[in-house]
Amino acid sequence: MNVTRKEQGTRLSMKTYTIAVIPGDGTGPEVIREGCRVLDAAAAQGKFHLEFQPYDLGAERYLRTTETLPPTVLKELTQVDAIYLGAIGHPSVKPGILEREILLRLRFELDQYINLRPVKLYPGVWTPLKDKTPEHIDFVVVRENTEGLYAGVGGFLRRGTPDETAIQTSVNTRHGVERCIRYAFEYTRRRNKHKKLTFCGKTNVLTYAHDLWQRTFDEVAKEYPDVTTDYTHVDACCMWMIKNPEWFDTIVTDNMFGDIITDLGAMIQGGMGIAAGGNLNPEGVSMFEPIGGSAPKYTGQQLINPLAAICAGAMMLEELGERQSAQAVEQAVCQVTSSKLKSLAAGKMGYSTSEVGDLVIEALA
Ligand code: IPM
Ligand code: MG
Repeated sequence: MNVTRKEQGTRLSMKTYTIAVIPGDGTGPEVIREGCRVLDAAAAQGKFHLEFQPYDLGAERYLRTTETLPPTVLKELTQVDAIYLGAIGHPSVKPGILEREILLRLRFELDQYINLRPVKLYPGVWTPLKDKTPEHIDFVVVRENTEGLYAGVGGFLRRGTPDETAIQTSVNTRHGVERCIRYAFEYTRRRNKHKKLTFCGKTNVLTYAHDLWQRTFDEVAKEYPDVTTDYTHVDACCMWMIKNPEWFDTIVTDNMFGDIITDLGAMIQGGMGIAAGGNLNPEGVSMFEPIGGSAPKYTGQQLINPLAAICAGAMMLEELGERQSAQAVEQAVCQVTSSKLKSLAAGKMGYSTSEVGDLVIEALA
């Protein structure tokens, strides 16, 4: 009894963060389980407490109730310190429904206007790029996350007829573009690596949308004389990411291009098994996720790599202000990739999903 009270007392006096956990579909629950275990271990070391609140959003709930993101849940999610998401998407639900009504809706409703995606080759990890090592592949993509082609503006005319027309418009507001670019400059400065920010666009074709981006970029740049600026067309960016990834420090880009180049980024950093991202509202509630999707064919088999979810958890700690613990988790992941795993690919790690979680926890200790 006394011990319990004492424990309770310690817990009450500790800093506590409320984390909404959305394990989601497919392999989401398996990887999030390991993520939560690692985060708990990091919290114990860092002397803070994480209170995980589970939410059953995803295919199962949708198929059972036709609910995707009920208003009551959305309201609760605006009150938490952060959201930790596994994956959304299931073969038995028509593509687009869950993605748009859960994942994208959360990003929009919570105004998570930055999608931060580090592209970092960890030690010991195989990259398809010959002769490239961790010192060459270490940059961060700042993707605008609430506008562009994702805004859902458009429609059909004479749908289903031979005269059908479909229009999907890219929305670029000065406000949305500027806050993203500003964040990217601040981030580049804070990251303090090469202090170089590259705008990735298509100014030779998107002569309205990316003209606005370029002008905003140039204007904001004047406030950051310590940051070197650069520009690359998105197609060339794909080329340089393969040929000379070491040229990049921080890249800022729009929603659609950011989606595409970060899958390319994930491949050069060793695959979806390690690629993590944060959907940030720097003034509100942010959401962290492995970027690889639900990988339905591996569901429930303990084959999937939880490191991407664990790295997303580290990003969450960083954003919560628990910087030391974030770094500790990242270092533990480095130790595991460099000394333990045979591969990062599902089923080829040499360990099961939960064993990889164990390895990270051991390395943390
Ligand atoms: C991502 C995903 C999503 C996106 C999909 C699932 C809607 O590809 O997070 O990159 O396009 O943003
Ligand atoms: Mg994507």
